[in-house]
Amino acid sequence: MKFFVDTADTAEIRELAATGLLDGVTTNPTLIHKSGRKFLEVVEEICGLVDGPVSAEVVALDHETMMKEAEILRKIADNVCIKVPLTIDGLKSCKALTDDGALVNVTLCFSANQALLAAKAGASFISPFVGRHDDNGFDGLALIEDIRLIYDNYQFDTEILAASLRHPIHVLECAKIGADVITAPPAVIKMLSKHVLTDKGLEGFAADWAKTGQTIL
Ligand code: E4P
Repeated sequence: MKFFVDTADTAEIRELAATGLLDGVTTNPTLIHKSGRKFLEVVEEICGLVDGPVSAEVVALDHETMMKEAEILRKIADNVCIKVPLTIDGLKSCKALTDDGALVNVTLCFSANQALLAAKAGASFISPFVGRHDDNGFDGLALIEDIRLIYDNYQFDTEILAASLRHPIHVLECAKIGADVITAPPAVIKMLSKHVLTDKGLEGFAADWAKTGQTIL
């Protein structure tokens, strides 16, 4: 399973990239706003920090303008992945862009039928929003299960990029279901390494090691 981080905070991305565990980055207009930086500049910097796909989202709602925006975004770096919304215009842009060799992430997916359309439009990634689905009284993980089943039924190449993940259990369940990629905020990714018994074990070992009076170096 690939790990993307969902942020436009370059300090956080740099820190996670240094672990060697990061396979890509996702951004959205809200995260760009939060960064307080210029969109094209911050995307360019992020593309230099990771080798994998960096999702940069178009903001137009119509196909023609989406294509113009995508043209500008594609020039930033080879690893830019154009993020388009799951609308008819977004799907049309997805088809045109992937036919032209671009990486495309279709975002704001809230149903398995939407995911089916994105796969038919040749999407590189489909982003079902698990947390926002849950927030509205639906079952976000059941959505991932349905999409996995449908994509496997027809051997679609589109990768399931489970998005809007809020906590480590979401990540665990997505891994069990077989999501191809997860994207989560830096804090959630860091939380995956935490366990109270790991901390307790380390404390015990450190205390006993101190009693030996030895050093390794
Ligand atoms: C995915 O690409 C989105 O940027 C993201 O996961 C949205 O998450 P949120 O629902 O926590 O805003």
